Amino acid sequence: MRFFRRKAKEFYGLDVGNGAIKLAELRRDLQDNTLALHRFLIRPTPPDTVENGVIKNEEKLRGAIKALLKDFGARTLTVATVLTGQNLIVRQIDVPKMTEEEFRKVLQLQADSYFGIPADELAADFQVVRELTGNRMLVLLVGSLKQPIVEFVDLLHSCGIRATRVDIEPLAALRSLRMSGALAAATANETTVVLDMGAGTSNLSVFQGEELQMVRVITVAGNDFTRDIAEAEQISWQEAEMLKLEHGVVPASPVYPHVQQTLQRLLRQVSISLEYYQVENRSALIHQIRLIGGSSQLIGLVEALAANVQELFARLELEAPIVAAGNPCAHLELATTAAAAQELGPILAVAVGLALGEVAADATD
Ligand SMILES: Nc1ncnc2c1ncn2[C@@H]1O[C@H](COP(=O)(O)OP(=O)(O)OP(=O)(O)O)[C@@H](O)[C@H]1O
Ligand SMILES: [Mg+2]
Repeated sequence: MRFFRRKAKEFYGLDVGNGAIKLAELRRDLQDNTLALHRFLIRPTPPDTVENGVIKNEEKLRGAIKALLKDFGARTLTVATVLTGQNLIVRQIDVPKMTEEEFRKVLQLQADSYFGIPADELAADFQVVRELTGNRMLVLLVGSLKQPIVEFVDLLHSCGIRATRVDIEPLAALRSLRMSGALAAATANETTVVLDMGAGTSNLSVFQGEELQMVRVITVAGNDFTRDIAEAEQISWQEAEMLKLEHGVVPASPVYPHVQQTLQRLLRQVSISLEYYQVENRSALIHQIRLIGGSSQLIGLVEALAANVQELFARLELEAPIVAAGNPCAHLELATTAAAAQELGPILAVAVGLALGEVAADATD
Protein backbone atom coordinates (compact mmCIF):
# COMPACT_ATOMS: atom_id res chain seq x y z
CA MET A 1 0.00 0.00 0.00
CA ARG A 2 1.26 3.49 -0.80
CA PHE A 3 0.51 6.58 1.18
CA PHE A 4 0.42 9.98 -0.41
CA ARG A 5 1.41 12.76 1.91
CA ARG A 6 0.06 16.22 1.26
CA LYS A 7 2.90 18.29 -0.19
CA ALA A 8 1.49 21.79 0.09
CA LYS A 9 -1.14 23.84 1.83
CA GLU A 10 -3.00 26.77 0.25
CA PHE A 11 -4.28 29.98 1.79
CA TYR A 12 -6.66 32.40 0.09
CA GLY A 13 -7.39 36.10 0.36
CA LEU A 14 -10.36 37.68 -1.44
CA ASP A 15 -10.63 41.47 -1.71
CA VAL A 16 -13.87 42.62 -3.32
CA GLY A 17 -13.46 46.30 -4.06
CA ASN A 18 -15.39 49.04 -5.74
CA GLY A 19 -13.32 48.71 -8.92
CA ALA A 20 -11.81 45.22 -8.89
CA ILE A 21 -12.10 41.77 -7.30
CA LYS A 22 -8.74 40.37 -6.24
CA LEU A 23 -8.06 36.76 -5.29
CA ALA A 24 -4.63 35.62 -4.09
CA GLU A 25 -3.46 32.07 -3.41
CA LEU A 26 -0.44 31.55 -1.21
CA ARG A 27 1.03 28.06 -1.14
CA ARG A 28 3.20 26.71 1.62
CA ASP A 29 5.41 23.80 0.72
CA LEU A 30 5.08 21.41 3.63
CA GLN A 31 8.45 19.80 2.96
CA ASP A 32 10.72 22.84 3.07
CA ASN A 33 8.16 25.23 4.61
CA THR A 34 8.66 27.89 1.92
CA LEU A 35 5.81 30.23 1.10
CA ALA A 36 5.03 31.53 -2.37
CA LEU A 37 2.31 33.46 -4.15
CA HIS A 38 1.14 30.60 -6.31
CA ARG A 39 -1.75 32.10 -8.28
CA PHE A 40 -3.86 35.24 -8.39
CA LEU A 41 -6.79 36.70 -10.32
CA ILE A 42 -7.91 40.30 -10.77
CA ARG A 43 -11.29 40.95 -12.40
CA PRO A 44 -13.21 44.20 -12.73
CA THR A 45 -16.15 44.60 -10.35
CA PRO A 46 -19.23 45.22 -12.51
CA PRO A 47 -20.11 48.94 -12.35
CA ASP A 48 -22.39 50.05 -9.51
CA THR A 49 -22.33 46.75 -7.62
CA VAL A 50 -20.13 47.60 -4.63
CA GLU A 51 -19.96 51.05 -3.12
CA ASN A 52 -17.85 51.75 -0.06
CA GLY A 53 -18.36 48.34 1.43
CA VAL A 54 -22.06 48.16 0.66
CA ILE A 55 -23.41 45.73 -1.94
CA LYS A 56 -25.67 47.62 -4.31
CA ASN A 57 -26.49 44.81 -6.71
CA GLU A 58 -26.36 41.28 -5.34
CA GLU A 59 -27.19 39.53 -8.59
CA LYS A 60 -24.44 41.22 -10.58
CA LEU A 61 -21.87 40.69 -7.85
CA ARG A 62 -22.83 37.04 -7.48
CA GLY A 63 -22.39 36.59 -11.23
CA ALA A 64 -18.94 38.21 -11.16
CA ILE A 65 -17.75 36.14 -8.19
CA LYS A 66 -19.03 32.89 -9.68
CA ALA A 67 -17.24 33.71 -12.94
CA LEU A 68 -14.05 34.45 -11.01
CA LEU A 69 -14.28 31.13 -9.21
CA LYS A 70 -14.82 29.31 -12.49
CA ASP A 71 -11.82 31.04 -14.08
CA PHE A 72 -9.83 30.03 -11.04
CA GLY A 73 -10.81 26.43 -11.69
CA ALA A 74 -12.43 25.96 -8.27
CA ARG A 75 -15.96 24.90 -7.32
CA THR A 76 -15.56 25.92 -3.69
CA LEU A 77 -13.00 27.95 -1.78
CA THR A 78 -12.26 28.92 1.82
CA VAL A 79 -11.00 32.49 2.10
CA ALA A 80 -10.26 35.37 4.40
CA THR A 81 -11.97 38.47 3.13
CA VAL A 82 -12.62 42.13 3.86
CA LEU A 83 -15.19 44.84 3.35
CA THR A 84 -13.63 48.23 2.64
CA GLY A 85 -15.07 51.69 2.75
CA GLN A 86 -17.07 54.09 4.80
CA ASN A 87 -18.60 51.79 7.33
CA LEU A 88 -15.49 51.12 9.42
CA ILE A 89 -15.45 53.23 12.56
CA VAL A 90 -12.12 53.55 14.35
CA ARG A 91 -11.88 55.50 17.58
CA GLN A 92 -9.48 55.81 20.46
CA ILE A 93 -11.00 56.29 23.88
CA ASP A 94 -9.57 56.89 27.31
CA VAL A 95 -11.19 54.69 30.01
CA PRO A 96 -10.38 53.54 33.58
CA LYS A 97 -7.87 50.70 33.61
CA MET A 98 -9.49 47.25 33.51
CA THR A 99 -8.92 43.76 32.12
CA GLU A 100 -9.75 42.99 28.49
CA GLU A 101 -12.58 40.75 29.67
CA GLU A 102 -14.08 43.58 31.70
CA PHE A 103 -13.74 45.99 28.83
CA ARG A 104 -15.50 43.59 26.49
CA LYS A 105 -18.55 43.78 28.76
CA VAL A 106 -18.31 47.59 28.90
CA LEU A 107 -18.17 47.65 25.11
CA GLN A 108 -21.42 45.67 24.90
CA LEU A 109 -23.15 48.11 27.23
CA GLN A 110 -21.65 51.27 25.79
CA ALA A 111 -21.74 50.37 22.09
CA ASP A 112 -24.36 52.97 21.41
CA SER A 113 -22.38 55.83 22.92
CA TYR A 114 -19.02 54.69 21.48
CA PHE A 115 -20.20 53.99 17.96
CA GLY A 116 -23.68 55.45 17.70
CA ILE A 117 -24.87 51.94 16.81
CA PRO A 118 -26.83 49.59 19.15
CA ALA A 119 -24.84 46.52 20.26
CA ASP A 120 -27.02 44.05 18.37
CA GLU A 121 -26.40 45.86 15.07
CA LEU A 122 -22.65 46.17 15.62
CA ALA A 123 -19.57 44.09 14.83
CA ALA A 124 -16.85 45.48 17.09
CA ASP A 125 -13.35 44.72 18.25
CA PHE A 126 -10.81 46.56 20.38
CA GLN A 127 -7.15 46.71 21.30
CA VAL A 128 -5.65 48.22 24.47
CA VAL A 129 -3.13 50.68 23.03
CA ARG A 130 -1.31 51.67 26.21
CA GLU A 131 -1.70 52.53 29.87
CA LEU A 132 -2.17 56.17 30.78
CA THR A 133 -1.47 58.07 33.96
CA GLY A 134 -4.20 58.28 36.62
CA ASN A 135 -4.96 54.54 36.37
CA ARG A 136 -6.51 54.88 32.93
CA MET A 137 -5.87 53.26 29.57
CA LEU A 138 -6.13 54.14 25.92
CA VAL A 139 -8.26 51.73 23.89
CA LEU A 140 -8.59 51.50 20.13
CA LEU A 141 -12.11 50.64 19.03
CA VAL A 142 -12.95 49.27 15.62
CA GLY A 143 -16.55 48.77 14.68
CA SER A 144 -18.88 48.54 11.75
CA LEU A 145 -22.46 47.69 11.02
CA LYS A 146 -22.98 43.95 11.29
CA GLN A 147 -25.59 43.72 8.55
CA PRO A 148 -23.38 44.48 5.49
CA ILE A 149 -20.85 41.90 6.75
CA VAL A 150 -23.53 39.24 7.25
CA GLU A 151 -24.97 39.98 3.80
CA PHE A 152 -21.55 39.80 2.19
CA VAL A 153 -20.65 36.51 3.87
CA ASP A 154 -24.04 35.06 2.84
CA LEU A 155 -23.52 36.21 -0.72
CA LEU A 156 -20.09 34.58 -0.85
CA HIS A 157 -21.59 31.42 0.61
CA SER A 158 -24.18 31.30 -2.17
CA CYS A 159 -21.26 31.39 -4.64
CA GLY A 160 -19.50 28.43 -2.99
CA ILE A 161 -17.07 30.53 -0.94
CA ARG A 162 -16.71 30.08 2.79
CA ALA A 163 -15.31 33.13 4.58
CA THR A 164 -13.32 32.08 7.63
CA ARG A 165 -12.66 35.67 8.58
CA VAL A 166 -13.75 39.17 7.65
CA ASP A 167 -10.67 41.19 8.36
CA ILE A 168 -10.10 44.88 9.00
CA GLU A 169 -8.65 46.36 5.82
CA PRO A 170 -5.87 48.50 7.37
CA LEU A 171 -4.61 45.50 9.35
CA ALA A 172 -4.55 43.30 6.24
CA ALA A 173 -2.69 46.06 4.39
CA LEU A 174 -0.01 46.45 7.05
CA ARG A 175 0.38 42.69 7.43
CA SER A 176 0.90 42.40 3.69
CA LEU A 177 3.82 44.82 3.76
CA ARG A 178 5.32 43.51 7.00
CA MET A 179 5.07 39.75 6.52
CA SER A 180 6.29 39.94 2.92
CA GLY A 181 9.31 42.01 3.97
CA ALA A 182 8.23 45.03 1.88
CA LEU A 183 8.65 47.00 5.13
CA ALA A 184 12.05 46.07 6.50
CA ALA A 185 12.18 44.42 9.93
CA ALA A 186 14.20 47.41 11.16
CA THR A 187 11.10 49.59 10.78
CA ALA A 188 9.00 47.44 13.14
CA ASN A 189 8.67 50.12 15.84
CA GLU A 190 8.37 53.11 13.56
CA THR A 191 5.30 55.13 12.70
CA THR A 192 4.06 54.10 9.28
CA VAL A 193 1.23 55.40 7.15
CA VAL A 194 -0.43 53.13 4.62
CA LEU A 195 -2.50 54.82 1.95
CA ASP A 196 -4.70 52.37 0.06
CA MET A 197 -5.91 54.18 -3.04
CA GLY A 198 -8.67 52.19 -4.64
CA ALA A 199 -11.36 53.04 -7.12
CA GLY A 200 -14.02 54.39 -4.73
CA THR A 201 -12.08 55.51 -1.66
CA SER A 202 -8.55 56.08 -0.44
CA ASN A 203 -7.99 54.71 3.05
CA LEU A 204 -5.30 56.32 5.13
CA SER A 205 -4.14 54.37 8.18
CA VAL A 206 -1.52 55.36 10.72
CA PHE A 207 0.34 52.72 12.71
CA GLN A 208 2.79 53.00 15.57
CA GLY A 209 4.62 49.72 15.21
CA GLU A 210 1.77 47.23 14.78
CA GLU A 211 -0.80 49.39 16.50
CA LEU A 212 -3.42 51.04 14.41
CA GLN A 213 -3.74 54.62 15.60
CA MET A 214 -6.01 56.33 13.14
CA VAL A 215 -8.04 55.61 10.00
CA ARG A 216 -9.37 58.19 7.59
CA VAL A 217 -11.51 57.34 4.61
CA ILE A 218 -10.78 59.90 1.90
CA THR A 219 -13.53 60.02 -0.68
CA VAL A 220 -11.21 60.83 -3.58
CA ALA A 221 -9.90 57.86 -5.57
CA GLY A 222 -9.46 56.33 -9.03
CA ASN A 223 -13.06 56.69 -10.20
CA ASP A 224 -12.91 60.46 -9.68
CA PHE A 225 -9.97 60.83 -12.07
CA THR A 226 -11.70 58.66 -14.68
CA ARG A 227 -14.91 60.66 -14.33
CA ASP A 228 -13.02 63.96 -14.73
CA ILE A 229 -11.48 62.78 -17.98
CA ALA A 230 -14.71 61.24 -19.32
CA GLU A 231 -16.66 64.43 -18.65
CA ALA A 232 -14.07 66.86 -19.97
CA GLU A 233 -13.37 64.87 -23.14
CA GLN A 234 -16.98 63.67 -23.60
CA ILE A 235 -15.81 60.08 -23.98
CA SER A 236 -16.86 56.71 -22.54
CA TRP A 237 -15.71 55.45 -19.16
CA GLN A 238 -13.48 52.83 -20.81
CA GLU A 239 -11.81 55.40 -23.05
CA ALA A 240 -11.27 57.71 -20.09
CA GLU A 241 -9.85 54.83 -18.08
CA MET A 242 -7.31 54.18 -20.84
CA LEU A 243 -6.28 57.83 -21.00
CA LYS A 244 -5.87 57.82 -17.23
CA LEU A 245 -3.61 54.75 -17.32
CA GLU A 246 -1.57 56.32 -20.11
CA HIS A 247 -1.08 59.79 -18.62
CA GLY A 248 -1.71 59.58 -14.88
CA VAL A 249 -1.35 62.88 -13.06
CA VAL A 250 1.86 64.09 -14.69
CA PRO A 251 1.69 67.92 -14.98
CA ALA A 252 2.84 67.98 -18.62
CA SER A 253 0.17 65.52 -19.81
CA PRO A 254 -2.78 66.52 -22.00
CA VAL A 255 -5.30 65.29 -19.37
CA TYR A 256 -3.68 67.15 -16.48
CA PRO A 257 -6.05 70.14 -16.72
CA HIS A 258 -8.98 67.69 -16.28
CA VAL A 259 -7.58 65.89 -13.24
CA GLN A 260 -5.70 68.70 -11.54
CA GLN A 261 -8.53 69.72 -9.19
CA THR A 262 -9.20 66.17 -8.07
CA LEU A 263 -5.48 65.65 -7.47
CA GLN A 264 -5.33 68.80 -5.35
CA ARG A 265 -8.39 67.66 -3.39
CA LEU A 266 -6.74 64.32 -2.72
CA LEU A 267 -3.44 65.91 -1.67
CA ARG A 268 -5.23 68.35 0.59
CA GLN A 269 -7.19 65.56 2.30
CA VAL A 270 -4.03 63.53 2.84
CA SER A 271 -2.24 66.60 4.26
CA ILE A 272 -5.09 67.38 6.65
CA SER A 273 -5.01 63.82 8.03
CA LEU A 274 -1.22 63.71 8.33
CA GLU A 275 -1.07 67.12 9.97
CA TYR A 276 -3.83 66.26 12.40
CA TYR A 277 -2.05 63.09 13.45
CA GLN A 278 1.41 64.60 13.58
CA VAL A 279 0.40 67.66 15.59
CA GLU A 280 -1.45 65.46 18.10
CA ASN A 281 1.48 63.04 18.24
CA ARG A 282 4.63 65.10 17.80
CA SER A 283 6.85 62.47 19.40
CA ALA A 284 5.65 59.72 17.01
CA LEU A 285 7.29 61.11 13.88
CA ILE A 286 5.90 59.48 10.72
CA HIS A 287 8.81 57.66 9.08
CA GLN A 288 7.21 56.19 5.99
CA ILE A 289 4.17 56.56 3.82
CA ARG A 290 3.49 53.47 1.74
CA LEU A 291 1.07 53.56 -1.16
CA ILE A 292 -0.98 50.57 -2.20
CA GLY A 293 -4.16 50.01 -4.24
CA GLY A 294 -4.63 50.30 -7.99
CA SER A 295 -4.71 54.10 -8.03
CA SER A 296 -1.33 54.32 -6.30
CA GLN A 297 0.00 53.33 -9.73
CA LEU A 298 -1.22 56.54 -11.36
CA ILE A 299 1.84 57.86 -13.14
CA GLY A 300 3.24 60.85 -11.26
CA LEU A 301 1.23 60.24 -8.11
CA VAL A 302 4.06 59.18 -5.79
CA GLU A 303 6.06 62.24 -6.87
CA ALA A 304 3.12 64.61 -6.38
CA LEU A 305 2.40 63.17 -2.95
CA ALA A 306 6.07 63.25 -1.93
CA ALA A 307 6.35 66.95 -2.88
CA ASN A 308 3.20 67.74 -0.93
CA VAL A 309 4.41 65.83 2.13
CA GLN A 310 7.79 67.62 1.95
CA GLU A 311 6.02 70.94 2.03
CA LEU A 312 3.81 69.95 4.95
CA PHE A 313 6.66 68.64 7.07
CA ALA A 314 8.83 71.68 6.29
CA ARG A 315 5.99 73.83 7.59
CA LEU A 316 5.72 71.65 10.70
CA GLU A 317 9.53 71.89 11.06
CA LEU A 318 9.81 68.11 11.10
CA GLU A 319 11.83 65.68 9.03
CA ALA A 320 9.70 64.47 6.11
CA PRO A 321 8.84 60.77 5.83
CA ILE A 322 9.80 58.51 2.94
CA VAL A 323 6.97 58.26 0.39
CA ALA A 324 7.09 55.06 -1.66
CA ALA A 325 5.04 52.32 -3.25
CA GLY A 326 4.23 49.29 -1.13
CA ASN A 327 4.66 46.13 -3.13
CA PRO A 328 4.45 42.84 -1.23
CA CYS A 329 4.94 40.89 -4.45
CA ALA A 330 8.39 42.38 -4.99
CA HIS A 331 9.45 40.51 -1.87
CA LEU A 332 7.39 37.33 -1.77
CA GLU A 333 8.49 34.26 -3.65
CA LEU A 334 6.42 34.13 -6.87
CA ALA A 335 5.60 30.83 -8.57
CA THR A 336 5.91 30.95 -12.36
CA THR A 337 2.11 31.01 -12.50
CA ALA A 338 2.19 34.28 -10.54
CA ALA A 339 5.20 36.00 -12.10
CA ALA A 340 3.02 38.87 -13.36
CA ALA A 341 2.18 39.76 -9.76
CA GLN A 342 5.48 41.63 -9.50
CA GLU A 343 3.90 44.47 -11.50
CA LEU A 344 0.55 44.25 -9.72
CA GLY A 345 1.74 44.05 -6.12
CA PRO A 346 0.14 47.33 -4.96
CA ILE A 347 -3.27 46.19 -6.27
CA LEU A 348 -2.92 42.74 -4.73
CA ALA A 349 -1.59 44.00 -1.40
CA VAL A 350 -4.82 43.62 0.60
CA ALA A 351 -5.67 40.18 -0.91
CA VAL A 352 -2.12 39.01 -0.13
CA GLY A 353 -2.39 40.44 3.40
CA LEU A 354 -5.64 38.54 3.93
CA ALA A 355 -4.04 35.27 2.81
CA LEU A 356 -0.99 36.00 5.00
CA GLY A 357 -3.39 36.34 7.94
CA GLU A 358 -4.53 32.78 7.26
CA VAL A 359 -0.90 31.63 7.12
CA ALA A 360 -0.27 33.27 10.50
CA ALA A 361 -3.45 31.77 12.00
CA ASP A 362 -2.48 28.32 10.73
CA ALA A 363 0.95 28.63 12.35
CA THR A 364 -0.58 29.34 15.77
CA ASP A 365 -3.21 26.57 15.54
N1 LIG B 1 -1.71 51.30 -13.74
C1 LIG B 1 -2.68 52.03 -13.20
N2 LIG B 1 -2.61 53.38 -13.21
C2 LIG B 1 -3.59 54.14 -12.68
N3 LIG B 1 -4.70 53.65 -12.12
C3 LIG B 1 -4.82 52.31 -12.09
C4 LIG B 1 -3.84 51.43 -12.61
N4 LIG B 1 -4.25 50.17 -12.42
C5 LIG B 1 -5.44 50.25 -11.80
N5 LIG B 1 -5.78 51.54 -11.60
C6 LIG B 1 -7.00 52.05 -10.95
O1 LIG B 1 -7.10 51.43 -9.69
C7 LIG B 1 -8.47 51.30 -9.31
C8 LIG B 1 -8.69 49.89 -8.85
O2 LIG B 1 -7.81 49.63 -7.80
P1 LIG B 1 -8.19 48.70 -6.58
O3 LIG B 1 -8.46 47.34 -7.09
O4 LIG B 1 -7.15 48.85 -5.56
O5 LIG B 1 -9.55 49.38 -6.11
P2 LIG B 1 -10.72 48.70 -5.28
O6 LIG B 1 -10.12 47.93 -4.16
O7 LIG B 1 -11.59 47.94 -6.20
O8 LIG B 1 -11.49 49.97 -4.77
P3 LIG B 1 -11.94 50.34 -3.26
O9 LIG B 1 -10.78 49.99 -2.38
O10 LIG B 1 -12.22 51.80 -3.33
O11 LIG B 1 -13.15 49.51 -2.98
C9 LIG B 1 -9.29 51.71 -10.52
O12 LIG B 1 -9.76 53.04 -10.32
C10 LIG B 1 -8.28 51.69 -11.66
O13 LIG B 1 -8.55 52.64 -12.65
MG1 LIG C 1 -9.56 48.32 -2.21
